[in-house]
Amino acid sequence: MMSVIFHEKSKVFHLTNSYVSYIIRIMENGQLENLYYGKAVHDSENFDRLHEEGWRSQAAVCMPDPSELSMHYTRQEYPVYGTGDFKSPACTIRQENGSRIVDFKYVSHEISDGKPVLEGLPATYVESDGEAQTLSVRLHDSLMNTDLYLYYTLYRDYPVITRHAQFVHAGDDSIFLERAMSAGVEFLDMKYDLLQLSGAWGRERYPKRRRLEMGLQGIQGLAGTTAGAEQNPFVALLRPDATEDFGEVYGFSLVYSGNFLANVEVSTFDMTRLSIGINPENFAWKLEKGQSFTTPEVVMVYSDSGLGGMSRTYHRLYRSRLIRGIWRDKARPILLNNWEGTYFDFNEEIILKMAREAKEVGVELFVLDDGWFGKRDDDRRGLGDWFCNLDKIPSGIDGLSRKVEEIGLKFGLWVELEMINEDSDLYRAHPDWLIQAPGRNRCQTRHQYVLDYSRKEVVDHIYGMMYELLRKSKISYIKWDMNRYMTEPFSAALPADRQGEMMHRYILGVYSLYERLTSEFPEILFESCASGGARFDPGMLYYAPQTWCSDDSDANERLKIQYGTSVVYPISSIGAHVSAVPNHQVMRKTPLHTRASVAYFGTFGYELVLGKLSDFELSQVRQQIDFMKRHRELIQIDGDFYRISSPFEHNETGWMTVSQDRKSALALYAQTLNKVNASWVRFKLKGLDPDTKYRVRYEIVEEPRDFFIYGMGPTEGKVETREFLAYGDELMNIGIVVDRIDFFKLGGDFAAFLYEIDAI
Ligand code: DGJ
Repeated sequence: MMSVIFHEKSKVFHLTNSYVSYIIRIMENGQLENLYYGKAVHDSENFDRLHEEGWRSQAAVCMPDPSELSMHYTRQEYPVYGTGDFKSPACTIRQENGSRIVDFKYVSHEISDGKPVLEGLPATYVESDGEAQTLSVRLHDSLMNTDLYLYYTLYRDYPVITRHAQFVHAGDDSIFLERAMSAGVEFLDMKYDLLQLSGAWGRERYPKRRRLEMGLQGIQGLAGTTAGAEQNPFVALLRPDATEDFGEVYGFSLVYSGNFLANVEVSTFDMTRLSIGINPENFAWKLEKGQSFTTPEVVMVYSDSGLGGMSRTYHRLYRSRLIRGIWRDKARPILLNNWEGTYFDFNEEIILKMAREAKEVGVELFVLDDGWFGKRDDDRRGLGDWFCNLDKIPSGIDGLSRKVEEIGLKFGLWVELEMINEDSDLYRAHPDWLIQAPGRNRCQTRHQYVLDYSRKEVVDHIYGMMYELLRKSKISYIKWDMNRYMTEPFSAALPADRQGEMMHRYILGVYSLYERLTSEFPEILFESCASGGARFDPGMLYYAPQTWCSDDSDANERLKIQYGTSVVYPISSIGAHVSAVPNHQVMRKTPLHTRASVAYFGTFGYELVLGKLSDFELSQVRQQIDFMKRHRELIQIDGDFYRISSPFEHNETGWMTVSQDRKSALALYAQTLNKVNASWVRFKLKGLDPDTKYRVRYEIVEEPRDFFIYGMGPTEGKVETREFLAYGDELMNIGIVVDRIDFFKLGGDFAAFLYEIDAI
């Protein structure tokens, strides 16, 4: 069941499917009121009773008798400032005379099957019209002669409503959009917690939860790449009693990779107003007669089954209706990336040796990371020169890629297409192509600057270089990196009154290059990256089905990063590799079994020199690759992900993925520090069929040791396979008994169990 209903008499729209209801009313002043958003309710001819109005002191009444309508006390769909509402607006428009008073009144609406495309912007999509219905409401400001279209798409099979807004200007005088949020949603009360994903380089997307309070709260990104590693373009409102598995949660995920704002304002009457969209800071978009502006899309998910329910909806939707292209439904190749193995210190011989070693153990794709182009022997030079450094690789990328294919692997390449070093041919030819403000200092990060992607000629030039490279070589995968935040936003190509457009135009330029490259080379698998996971957002997933999750490749750190990332993003999108020990970010030594067990819950690959591993480790690596080949369909394509025990709250982290038919599952149970003589542990699974009998299989991998421990002698390394049978209800209600001695054998600190669960 899915319908967008309009009740002509009561002027009410009801968007509803089996999961969710969203009810809007056209008010007496022609603006839109939000009457309800939440769990699905029956339709009714009239929902007027949900409008609450009472005389209040200081009320600025915009419609006196009989309605006494006052905007400050009304839950609105797209509120504005200056007409009696004293809270954060959804839009602000400066007009020629300096006024910012606007009045968008309902004109008409359209209900159609399917979902419109957002020109030049990433967005969720449908594959057939029956999957969704879209309501677009046209409002008009007659003084400016501007239309505002509010779009709502309701998906049939998900508790999902997507929203965006569009301004179409027909007035003779230009207007300036100074704030144009994607959506505003208002809730009747303030009994919510605000959840966000916050972090920094190496510790991206840690979930943070706080109680709402009267006044302003929220998160923003101003780094030019959504929020960089600091804030992800996502927030959720959770009822205070909502947990991982129970309770109401409202998720808001912005499909955008530029500066954003998620703003929550609670009034002193306990009403909660949430708006999300492009960050108004440093933003002003000029609309001349005949021009239009479209905001990015926000994907709103309702869950009455806790945070886990919300995450699984995002996972399913993003994996099947945001990610595109041939890789969407395909298990991802197991790769070896040379970055942590060699950094800049490599040549063709070293790379080919690494590729041969990778082939030996079953790797499918070799990725050559930073350092292959221009004069790139360190991070001070070369960015912008996307042609091979023949001193390092005499065969060129075309020759090397063919040689790697002859070895029996696919070949992938790292690029950082938005950047430029002063020491580069590109800079020498076009010193004015970078983002910089005249007469001002320009900040560097990693000795590099950002190219001005708001300029089409810059994007065209980079496209030209990439086209040549990709056309001539055998490239199956591209890692598109972005290693600095943006400063001194100013474009030499824009007039003064359009400088406020620069940051958004930049990201539109990035999207346009992605669009051209992915449509010209549809078979190439793109992985986005930004100093690790500083640009892990839905906008990127539309073009690149996977994102390098973090530069912190330590397995124990990854428990937190991948756990937090899974709040919104599907497991298939999480770039995860096994790296060497001691780990290069934290100097920690974790068991190889743990490193692989954590990386399985992602795209899986290695980032080390295989030639430096012992025979035991190599045999383990072979088995791990074989294991991943057998399970990657379940992990990346078919499975539903359940978080069980949070690394932010416990010493033990638990999560699992369960196939749609609930016949197979894979569960991870990992600990941080080992405990001595500790209490018993039960690992309770989720998502299984209670009445199905399962075989649970796991391995105790003991790494070589040359010393005696009481009761345990030295070993050259051994693997013991265990299994038992149990019904789903036992596994979920009683749990798996975890023997502490096994934690000891698995390596003690940072040990992990990996359970293969199959219906028999
Ligand atoms: C940052 C990325 O996150 C790393 O994986 C690596 O590609 C380096 N950049 C290369 O400069």
